[in-house]
Order: sequence, then C-alpha cells, then structure tokens
Amino acid sequence: MRISVIGLGYLGAVHAAALAASGHEVVGVDVDPEKVDALALGKAPFYEPGFDDLLAEARRSGRLQVGTDVAEVAGSAVHFVCVGTPQSADSPAADLRFVDTAVDSLLPYLAPGDVVVGKSTVPVGTAARLADVVTAAAPGAVLAWNPEFLREGHAVDDTLHPDRIVYGLPAGETGERAAVVLDAVYAAPLAEGVPRIVADYPTAELVKVAANSFLATKISFINAMAELCEVAGGDVTQLADAIGHDVRIGRRFLNAGLGFGGGCLPKDIRAFTARADELGAGEAVAFLGEVDRINNRRRERMVELTAEVLGGSVAGRRVAVLGAAFKPESDDVRDSPALDVAARLDQAGADVVVTDPQAVPTARVRAPQLTYTEDVEEALAGADVVLVLTEWRQFRELDPVRVGELVAGRTVLDGRLALDRAGWEAAGWRYRALGRA
Ligand code: UGA
Repeated sequence: MRISVIGLGYLGAVHAAALAASGHEVVGVDVDPEKVDALALGKAPFYEPGFDDLLAEARRSGRLQVGTDVAEVAGSAVHFVCVGTPQSADSPAADLRFVDTAVDSLLPYLAPGDVVVGKSTVPVGTAARLADVVTAAAPGAVLAWNPEFLREGHAVDDTLHPDRIVYGLPAGETGERAAVVLDAVYAAPLAEGVPRIVADYPTAELVKVAANSFLATKISFINAMAELCEVAGGDVTQLADAIGHDVRIGRRFLNAGLGFGGGCLPKDIRAFTARADELGAGEAVAFLGEVDRINNRRRERMVELTAEVLGGSVAGRRVAVLGAAFKPESDDVRDSPALDVAARLDQAGADVVVTDPQAVPTARVRAPQLTYTEDVEEALAGADVVLVLTEWRQFRELDPVRVGELVAGRTVLDGRLALDRAGWEAAGWRYRALGRA
C-alpha cells in the first residue's frame, strides 16, 4: 500500500518507519528540513531505543521516502496526520493550528477513495469538523480517527505491537470501506491478534484523552498517598506494592515521586478540561484540575525539601541534579519535572549543575540559563546535595561509596524512589525521598 505520513516527530517518524518495515510504501513529510535530512540519512532526530535499527531497515528496503514537500503525498491511498497538538500559549486548550494546516495541505492531493487518518490527540469534536473539510474539498475521500497510544522510550515496540487499535469512523458504507483500508494498513498487528475497536468519531477521540487522564490520575493518586505518608511517617512504595497486589488496582503506573511530565499527560488533561467546559460538562472532569495540582505540588515539595536539608536556604549552595528528561529512555524535556525543579532551584539562587545521559542537548535549548555537563562525576563534584530526578539506570546503579568521595555533603534526595536506600545509608549518606518518612 502507498501511505503518506504528515509530521515526523516522535509519533510520525516511528509510525512511518514501522509501516515501511511491515511492507508498505511510505512517504513521510515534515516542515522541518533538519529533521527530514537526519531521517534521510537514517539518523534518528531524537533518542528512542530501537528506532535507529527500525529506521535503517526501512531506509534500506527503499520503502521509506522523506521530504519537506507535501506534494509528495499525491498517489498515496492513506494519509496519516501525526502532527503535534501542544497547549495553547495563552490558555489550557489544545492548539490545533498544526492539525488544521496539515489537513488543509493534503486537500489538493486527495483522490476519491483516499482515507485521511488523524492520529494526533485532539479535543472531541475535531474529527467531525475535519471530516466536513475533507469531504467538501475532496468528494469521495473519507476521514478516520485512529488514536495512538505509544509511550516514548517504548515507541518502537508499542507501534509494532500495540495494546489495541481504535478506528473512529463515519457510519454506513463510507466507514465500512475505510475500515477495510485500515485493516490492510494494520494487517501485521491484526494478524497477531491485537484487539480492534471500531467506534464513532467522538468515542475514538475520547478514548485517547480518557486513557491519558486515567494514567495521570493513577500517578497523582499515589502521589497524594505519598503526601500522606510523609506527614504520617509511612512509606509510599510499600503502600503501592501492597495495594498493587489487588489485580483490580494493579501495581503498574503507581510509582510515586516527582510526578508526570512530558508532551502528553499534562497538556492532555488540561485540554480535556477546557473542552469539557466548552461542552458544558466541566464538572465531570473537574477532578483533573486536582490531579494537575497534586502533580505540581510534588515539584514544589522537592524544592522545599532541598532547602530543608540545606538548613533552610539553597542560595549559593551547590546542587547536583541527576536527570533532565521527563522520564528515562527519552531525551524529551517538554514539561519535564526534573528540569522544572532544576530551574526553580536556580531561580532561588542555588548553584545547580544538571546532567542526563541523553537530554543535555534538548535541555540546553529549553533552559539555557542552567549549567550542564554530560559527565555525571563532574556534576557530582563538590555538591552539597544530590537530587535524583529521572530514574535512568545509570543513576540507579551509582555506587554510593564512589559518589561519596566526590561530593561536599553526603545528602541524597531520591525524587523517583529509585535508589537502594539501605545501600546509600550504609555508605554514610543521609537519604530523603518524597513519600518516605
Ligand atoms: C503517555 C501515555 O503513557 C501513552 O500511552 C500515550 O500514547 C502518550 O502519553 C501520548 O499521549 O502520546 P509518555 O508521555 O511517553 O506516554 O510517557 P509515560 O510513560 O506515560 O510517562 C509520563 C510521565 O509519568 C513521566 O514523567 C513519568 O516519569 C511519569 N510516571 C509514570 C510516574 O511518575 N509514575 C509512574 O508510575 C509512571
């Protein structure tokens, strides 16, 4: 099948390469020439485990072309829209500019029978609006909404072997024809038995934001319990282990700590709340405001805790921040809790040095005021306190004895409840964590 993919970010690039690897002829288009040049050379424009190999395979096969000219999409039967929907600059709502532009740019090249497939996360109601745009400009073409659930850091595996595939389609024969086309696109995962759910547009759009809202709520729930553990003298990790044994609750996504960040969960819960307000159903998701507030309080608490262990003020004190990415196995620093804490400490006058195995280049762009090093020992040298804010394996496995020789003060704050407390304490460290007495 000949398929086009518009938008070659974390989602689109991996999707395009996976489609090519599974035998389709794919043309990927992005407005950013640097990204396109990197992909054309077989180089991933971001850090994503396994993506280099998938990309190399796709490029070697000759089935993945990339470019900046949207005219290249002509002749494709299916067009995936994979552009970003960031938070608006002046409100919590999603900014749909890129989605609208991408769909508009496709219109001159659509032929009857073509399927335009939205993958971006959008406010409910967007698909119905765009369907009208598509059918008005290209009679016989159809719009489908096919949300994506991949996690950064696991994008390749999640794309090749998704948990489920959701099609949002119009009713009747048009929708049925589009389903047949999508089944051919996803022949490989469907053959593995991946569940396929066919729904209407609003349900498909809501599935995506409902899933991310649930995940965000689960994290903030356990972080609320962490707040209780801190004041009551409990241990949130033991609590999570204990409640997680109940299969109705489940232990996954119950890791307390600095909370969620990234390009999806924070902006998605805010955009969902804004859209629900517009629809007059704001009360139904008002709890997401609390989920957001709990999440932000973790960052404030980490800054407070740093001041507390330094005797009341961070001003002029040397702070080693281990972690800049919003989670391990990613170089993404969008709304990163780690980078946010580092910036707040810097703002409060601390002498902050940030290190991360992958995210130093991206962090430098986002927070240029901070001092960075890619050398973890350099970051630790002379530190009055060490903050572990992203749970990279490299940080979890640090030798507390060796680290103790580098720092000025042996105090470690475990922002992700990721360290072996007993080992650090045995090496003479004062250990403090969010959610542990
Ligand atoms: C999230 C969803 O998990 C994906 O299913 C979805 O497709 C994606 O958003 C999206 O909308 O595109 P992602 O943002 O890559 O994926 O990252 P997650 O693995 O969900 O982690 C989000 C944040 O929650 C990270 O900052 C992580 O450190 C934090 N987290 C995660 C916790 O604090 N505790 C946990 O137990 C799990």
